[in-house]
Amino acid sequence: MSKKTLTLTDNSTDKQVELPVLNGTHGASVVDIGPMVRDLGYFTLDPGFKATASCHSSITYIDGDKGTLLYRGYPIEQLAKKSTFIEVAYLLLDGELPNKTELDSFQDIILSHTMINESLKKLFDGFHHDAHPMSIMVGVVGALSAFYHDSTDVNNSRHREIAAHRLIAKMPTIAAASYKHSVGQPFQYPKNSLSYCGNLLHMMFSTPCEKYEVDPVAEKALDLLFILHADHEQNASTSTVRLAGSSGANPFACISSGITALWGPAHGGANESALNMLNEIGDVSNIAKYIAKSKDKKDPFRLMGFGHRVYKNHDPRARVLRNMCHEVLKSNGNSNDPLFELALRLEEIALKDDYFIEKKLYPNVDFYSGIIYKALGIPSNMFTVMFAIARTVGWVAHWQEMIADPAMVIGRPRQLYRGAAQRDYVGLGQR
Ligand code: CMC
Repeated sequence: MSKKTLTLTDNSTDKQVELPVLNGTHGASVVDIGPMVRDLGYFTLDPGFKATASCHSSITYIDGDKGTLLYRGYPIEQLAKKSTFIEVAYLLLDGELPNKTELDSFQDIILSHTMINESLKKLFDGFHHDAHPMSIMVGVVGALSAFYHDSTDVNNSRHREIAAHRLIAKMPTIAAASYKHSVGQPFQYPKNSLSYCGNLLHMMFSTPCEKYEVDPVAEKALDLLFILHADHEQNASTSTVRLAGSSGANPFACISSGITALWGPAHGGANESALNMLNEIGDVSNIAKYIAKSKDKKDPFRLMGFGHRVYKNHDPRARVLRNMCHEVLKSNGNSNDPLFELALRLEEIALKDDYFIEKKLYPNVDFYSGIIYKALGIPSNMFTVMFAIARTVGWVAHWQEMIADPAMVIGRPRQLYRGAAQRDYVGLGQR
């Protein structure tokens, strides 16, 4: 069978090239523009990568028009209902669901790497008490590279695996320590008898003076949130990790760059911004005013937690979270949480508005996650940190996939230069 191609003609020279069309398992086909660059000497311009596949990947698939999200082929709704975060982490890293022995062994490995070096703890003292926990995460996770520099050869697959395990295991410890620093409480060591999320709650909320019992509802809710946040193919932070990693850089430093990219309000920072926005709107009677602000092109305000680059129908993660909001609020006696009521009303009004209908803007994962985190007692400046813990799994899975690919090359975009034309240096006295 002949392979599909697109023919591209340069009208100025009548030269033609055949561009191979490549098919994936699902989704739109992509055009390999290599021959265009090689034979015609053109590059493409695609700010924001709106139409560009930066790599091939076998980890996660999104169909934005249908609202589908698959991890290694499995629909997110099924994983959310039946799986656990640790099992999903194994799936994303390995490609297959583990059997019981594999799962137990993976869980043991992750739980045995939870401690951080005592010297790393001293780093926290250098941060001001009111430093944003995300800024601490960027610094401390990056600093892990100093502890595992000589022992991490990125060309050694076993070293890569150990680095991946260390990152997944230590993120909750560093996150909890960032929180403890901000509230002036002593760090709590991990308890490896607890589950991944139970341990995080213990490290965040226990103190040496009182007995602390992990709330099973909070533990389960956190686990579900982490499943939903674990991966999302080539989003800004994952692409940042890939780009940093493509130079052969230390993986701990690469993940720190991912945390940086995640922090922005257009990406993972939207969960904190969405809750702040709901607080600012304050009452149902103000919704119309804020919807109008979000539509006004002269006003930088956007409805936080709304819209997505890929989802143009619905974000399946938001649907799961919407239902979960009901359950979590009911279980902690806050069924009538005014913020949740406000969010539901805002969603209802926005979804009937022509502007949001035409632009296909729907609530995304960050619209409801903040309400759940708040109900679990997580302070709002820790919301994006929670996202970062879960997304670390996706980041390391993509980093590993990229480095293991024999065809890997350093990521190096081109540009359309529009600066001054070449000119001669003018001496200071002649300017
Ligand atoms: N409120 C009002 N208008 C919006 C919004 C919004 N939340 N989102 C997009 N638009 C408008 C935008 O002004 C543009 O209008 P026009 O075509 O007239 O210029 C149109 O919709 C398309 O938006 P875009 O910014 O070109 O789309 P994008 O794919 O570049 O951006 C986005 C996607 C998520 C950055 C954007 O929708 C946004 O800023 N949303 C609010 C922040 C947010 O919730 N981010 C979380 C994303 S999901 C989780 C994650 O990635 O971490």
